[in-house]
Amino acid sequence: MSTVNKELNIILMGPPAAGKGTQSELIVKNFHLPHISTGDMLRAGIEKKTPLGLQAKSYMDAGQLVPDEVIIGLVKERLQEEDCKGGFLLDGFPRTIPQAEALDKLLRELGRKINYAILLVADEKILTARITNRRVCPKCGASFNLETKKPVKDGICDLCGHELIQRGDDTEASFRVRLDAYAKQTYPIVDHYKAQGVVSEVNALQSIEQVYGEIEKVLKD
Ligand code: AP5
Repeated sequence: MSTVNKELNIILMGPPAAGKGTQSELIVKNFHLPHISTGDMLRAGIEKKTPLGLQAKSYMDAGQLVPDEVIIGLVKERLQEEDCKGGFLLDGFPRTIPQAEALDKLLRELGRKINYAILLVADEKILTARITNRRVCPKCGASFNLETKKPVKDGICDLCGHELIQRGDDTEASFRVRLDAYAKQTYPIVDHYKAQGVVSEVNALQSIEQVYGEIEKVLKD
């Protein structure tokens, strides 16, 4: 178990299927941080048919980014909750320059800053294989892979026993749009955080354990 002596305000960046969700699970468990995944928050909204979920669904199914104003409001509220006071892990946010600027502004107002922006680096061929083999639990959100992280029992979630599904946006057409959105709208935030001197690149083509080992080294430094 890791011990933390300073506030850890972390952003996990990387293309779709690079392993952000997978690594987030390990980081939050070992560093005792709240996991703030905008993708999970939006999917929960869709599941519960909230106005936010209904608004987000068509964008997500098409692989497009949900409008900034919707996401920014959501994250602003979440970051001010009690459990985020000692640190947090942001997964999938920020995803555009306006989102990064809004986050900077909020953190400045709170007297805080991002101290680690970890970039998972992976190539397209591997990402496509990971996406087509991914299966997720619609009940508890756990993620599996038919090749690299098989559930113990075929098609059943190891954690809660619910049937596993393929995500609605894990089609090849939607994945192409997501990769394009990442290159055009999200990748520019890497330079935004490089200018703040907080970016660490991690090779995401290694095994899940090796990727986590590198991330842990960065966070313990
Ligand atoms: P979101 O849910 O954030 O999806 P994403 O960024 O496309 O990322 P993924 O969840 O697809 O992949 P991941 O990197 O988490 O990989 P995973 O660990 O699952 O966003 C979905 C949509 O919501 C967006 O398209 C957008 O519409 C909307 N949205 C969300 N946030 C937004 C924002 N801020 N602004 C606007 N819109 C927003 O791994 C993938 C697979 O690979 C799994 O099967 C896993 O088991 C396997 N795997 C992982 N690591 C390894 C490894 N090292 N070796 C082998 N297999 C591995």
